[in-house]
Amino acid sequence: MPLVTTKEMFEKAYKGGYAIGAFNINNMEIIQGITRAAKKLNAPVILQCSAGARKYASHNYLVAMVKAAAEETGLPIALHLDHGPDFETCKSCIDGGFTSVMIDGSSLPYEENIALTKKVVDYAHAHGVTVEGELGTLAGVEDDVNVSAEDASYTKPEQVEDFVTRTGVDSLAIAIGTSHGAYKFKPGQKPQLRFDILEEIEKRLPGFPIVLHGASSVNQDHIKIINEFGGEMPDAIGIPEDMLRKAAGMAVCKVNVDSDIRIAMTAALRKHFSENPTHFDPRQYLTPARDLIQEVVEHKIDVVFGSTGAAE
Ligand code: G3H
Ligand code: 13P
Ligand code: ZN
Repeated sequence: MPLVTTKEMFEKAYKGGYAIGAFNINNMEIIQGITRAAKKLNAPVILQCSAGARKYASHNYLVAMVKAAAEETGLPIALHLDHGPDFETCKSCIDGGFTSVMIDGSSLPYEENIALTKKVVDYAHAHGVTVEGELGTLAGVEDDVNVSAEDASYTKPEQVEDFVTRTGVDSLAIAIGTSHGAYKFKPGQKPQLRFDILEEIEKRLPGFPIVLHGASSVNQDHIKIINEFGGEMPDAIGIPEDMLRKAAGMAVCKVNVDSDIRIAMTAALRKHFSENPTHFDPRQYLTPARDLIQEVVEHKIDVVFGSTGAAE
């Protein structure tokens, strides 16, 4: 099946009260772990890569591997640019086979965010590609940009209609208390999301797909494995699964996950090397890493996002 845009996926997800998992990819094993899970559960999926991932693996490899996954699984798969930093990067992805891009103007002044986002939308729509914009700023680290909790700001619901109408975006990423990376809440702090803001946005934009970034849950068993086998990760607290489930039943149609995949891969590799100190064949140690990624993604699709069977 050729790659698809996010348009139809989001329409069905909104109506069905579930969300599509959007998983960050950096290499073949990650792509295979994710798409094997999606295939097993017959779920549509978004594979997304950051500018850093494009630099690491190279654009052509990523596009070719994602196309291979779509062909092999027969699933609706969208290839999405995560946190597009500028027009040129978005254009290069649109010209080079991506079916969806995010332009992240969230750190710009409001009018500049609108102007940049609209420029990307005009180009993308002329080429049949969907666009995600962002309003509000998440805390955490993306690529080399580090936003402190003090500098993060919730999305202002009174801006969303104006932003969506004037830019023409197809979906909107919002800030309601999630953050990038493994350390979302301080030890002892109770995780909280501003569902009141999400509700208000939903009222102002009925039927419009909302995106949640920074949505990893941080599996405590995986953190334990990392630390049991030589790692030194401090206490890490993520977004509770019941909160993500609730958001998926509301206007949230896309949930971004990267850190959970990184943590699973690290746990599997540390355990494998510790138990098999003589191994040096990448197929030996990358197999358990790929398998654990698949397990994580199956759980998310089936139990958290509710998109099992939605590829029909
Ligand atoms: O939101 C950011 C993603 O986790 C991508 O991270 O820029 O290090 O690839 P990265
Ligand atoms: P996590 O760091 O919570 O996995 O978030 C990933 C993300 O938002 C990618 O854009
Ligand atoms: Zn993000």
